Amino acid sequence: MGYLSKIDISKAPKHIAIIMDGNGRWAKKQGHERLYGHNFGVESVRETLKAAKQLKVQYLTMYAFSTENWNRPKDEVDGLMDLLVRSIAAEVGELMENGVRLMTIGDTEGLPEACRNELMEAIQQTKDNSEITLVLALNYSSRWEITNALQKIVKSVKASELTEEEITIEKIEEFLTTRGIPDPELLIRTSGEHRISNFLLWQIAYTEFHFTEVLWPDFREEDLFKAVLDYQSRERRFGMVSEQLT
Ligand code: IPE
Ligand code: IPE
Ligand code: MG
Repeated sequence: MGYLSKIDISKAPKHIAIIMDGNGRWAKKQGHERLYGHNFGVESVRETLKAAKQLKVQYLTMYAFSTENWNRPKDEVDGLMDLLVRSIAAEVGELMENGVRLMTIGDTEGLPEACRNELMEAIQQTKDNSEITLVLALNYSSRWEITNALQKIVKSVKASELTEEEITIEKIEEFLTTRGIPDPELLIRTSGEHRISNFLLWQIAYTEFHFTEVLWPDFREEDLFKAVLDYQSRERRFGMVSEQLT
């Protein structure tokens, strides 16, 4: 197909993060409730996962629910939590078939019990899969994550398990919920919004951004391939100059 044939898979990102946005607007456009859009968004997750696997991507992180999303109307929040429980339960079989390991980042403690249980069970069940890791950002916000890390670091110092000098960049990363996950090389946001909305602030220090007008429920394999192709047209300099990169 079009974009896929142009991609150099050996140089595809190992980690792609996605801010899945536009479900509500998509639903509204067709005269439906916002939840209708969230429901259709699940199919986009499935498609994106398949496409990422074809590119041998190792980690796919999806922003599914932010700390700030609790401020939405109760009906929508309840509907989203319900959808989450149902989707995880329904998808575990397919995750197993496709060698997908499920992980989560965020404040899991703050999720409703049914949701947390379903999630933990799926994580446990898929833990030995090694084709690709799907990281669901649930009740996640970067400022929460960094604050949480700071609290834990201070606790460790107070308990004399850590000295001030031992607090390095690598050490701080061990206290983030993304511990062990490499930084994303590519971040995609759908729905035409050009903002980060409290997502992975620490981890995107050198990430390439791709913004698309496509609303999340319309996002398909080709859209991921297009984003990766865009990524491959960039020169990542990490603070150096072009000539140093060869
Ligand atoms: C993204 O779609 C899904 C979540 C944030 C849970 P939205 O629900 O934000 O859809 P829009 O941005 O209002 O269209
Ligand atoms: C970001 O989308 C959060 C998720 C995709 C889960 P939002 O729709 O909540 O972000 P804002 O409100 O437009 O910044
Ligand atoms: Mg939105």
